Amino acid sequence: MDQVAILQQRQQAALLGGGTKRIESQHKKGKLTARERLQLLLDDGSFEEIGMMVTHRCRDFDMEKEIYAGDGVVTGYGRINGRLVYVFSQDFTVFGGSLSETHAEKICKIMDLAIQNGAPVIGLNDSGGARIQEGVVSLGGYADIFYRNVKSSGVIPQISAIMGPCAGGAVYSPAITDFILMVEHTSYMFVTGPNVVKTVTHETVTSEELGGANTHASKSGVTHFSAANEVACIERIKQLLSYMPQNCEEDAPIYPYEEGHELRPKLNNMIPDNPNQPYDIKEVIEEVADENSFLEVHKDYAENIVVGFARLGGRSIGIVANQPASLAGVLDINSSKKAARFTRFCDAFNIPLLVLVDVPGFLPGTDQEWNGIITNGAKLLYALSEATVPKVTVITRKAYGGAYDVMNSKHIGADLNFAWPSAEIAVMGAKGAAEIIFKKQISEASNQEEKLKEKEAEYAEKFANPYGAAARGFVDEIILPETTRQKLIRAFTMLENKVATMPKRKHGNIPL
Ligand code: HXC
Repeated sequence: MDQVAILQQRQQAALLGGGTKRIESQHKKGKLTARERLQLLLDDGSFEEIGMMVTHRCRDFDMEKEIYAGDGVVTGYGRINGRLVYVFSQDFTVFGGSLSETHAEKICKIMDLAIQNGAPVIGLNDSGGARIQEGVVSLGGYADIFYRNVKSSGVIPQISAIMGPCAGGAVYSPAITDFILMVEHTSYMFVTGPNVVKTVTHETVTSEELGGANTHASKSGVTHFSAANEVACIERIKQLLSYMPQNCEEDAPIYPYEEGHELRPKLNNMIPDNPNQPYDIKEVIEEVADENSFLEVHKDYAENIVVGFARLGGRSIGIVANQPASLAGVLDINSSKKAARFTRFCDAFNIPLLVLVDVPGFLPGTDQEWNGIITNGAKLLYALSEATVPKVTVITRKAYGGAYDVMNSKHIGADLNFAWPSAEIAVMGAKGAAEIIFKKQISEASNQEEKLKEKEAEYAEKFANPYGAAARGFVDEIILPETTRQKLIRAFTMLENKVATMPKRKHGNIPL
């Protein structure tokens, strides 16, 4: 056989991974193969494979009899909408996509290239974890990947899609990356599976309940996105990437945008007459952002805060917004952690931040206190304070107590703070405040209810408005709601060359 034919034969074998039978079994489970996934992810014809002929080195347990070119992972680089990305896609048809020494080396090689060349890494995970036959070298391989994940953090975007079982070591690399996407009903993430759980805690739980997409999207917050199927998951990766720069030295791509239609009268009627009545902050976001540009992150987790990417005048922004429609928009442990992590991603990758405020304060109670609302609430305070990207705030209604400070107040470095006329900037709501500071007068009054109302009105007149804060310059401008989009486009354009630095240090010590 001539040399070309030998090469072609070997390539053909590599393309089949663990063989046609296993590919059929993968399809039967409703899953695509590693290569089919890459074909969907990358621009046509753009994929260049690295390491197709790599094989494992294990000689125990008869492993020398089972050798597959590529060793269970397809690695290389390609383009998404013309932009360079590095990719690895685990092949479940080869030893269940498990991670051998060489499999890890292949992933490390593309991670090293990605960090040196400043482009995102996208990992498509479908793996039974450490290659059991290889023992400690497999564990070492995982650690080599984790180390690179950490080195890459904040330098290049890292995205992990979970497209099959991910157990043990297979979950920690995604956990360090910036965004996780899971596919409903075919992907799982857990440190230990249902059998171990049963043995140790005597709980009976299915894989889906323990670590399926819905569990991690709503209960644990481990995944940022849950997709109905693999195709939708891959489309979501491409959309997500469109808001990000290639690396921390660059800006996100600017999309074409047609000026005009900036006044949004609908915003004038957004706030209900009753200050305790909820409204949906996502409706405000839809009016403010470029049409259909809002991509919500962590949609089903800690719904009392909304975070996500959008475009404003064609430019990427990150939005952090209290959600009055869920728990009155209160800040609690989960919402603080969710918003803090998102804020830090945006800051690391030069994505300006818009913060929409309608917050009655921090959630009281033993559950919150005993689980550390102090430390966790401080995460958001820390993240917004340390962010040096352009930061703009709009207070739509309540900005009460410590939450006023935390939600991108002027005092922690916001560049421009707007308030709607409906804003109430105070230590607490008027009723609660009146009950405390006028306690004596109220208790001595012949009609206590009337006295409370009178004092409540007195307090509201003084503080339940934006004018006191504006008089001190804590609010830069009180704006008509309909002008919000226009004001924000101008504000972010004005801030586009912002340079702000923090004192020189090794790194800060965020209250983890
Ligand atoms: C080697 C593995 C493997 C593994 C699966 N296979 N997992 N080979 N090492 N970890 C092989 C199987 O032998 C089988 O080979 C093929 O992959 C498909 O596996 P099935 O069991 O037939 O598939 P399925 O029923 O879909 O179940 C998938 C699975 C299950 C849930 C992933 O295989 C499983 O539980 N595997 C073990 C998971 C695990 O305990 N991993 C170690 C975690 S500890 P054939 O030849 O039949 O096709 C860990 C520590 C790292 O990762 C810590 C670092 C910090």
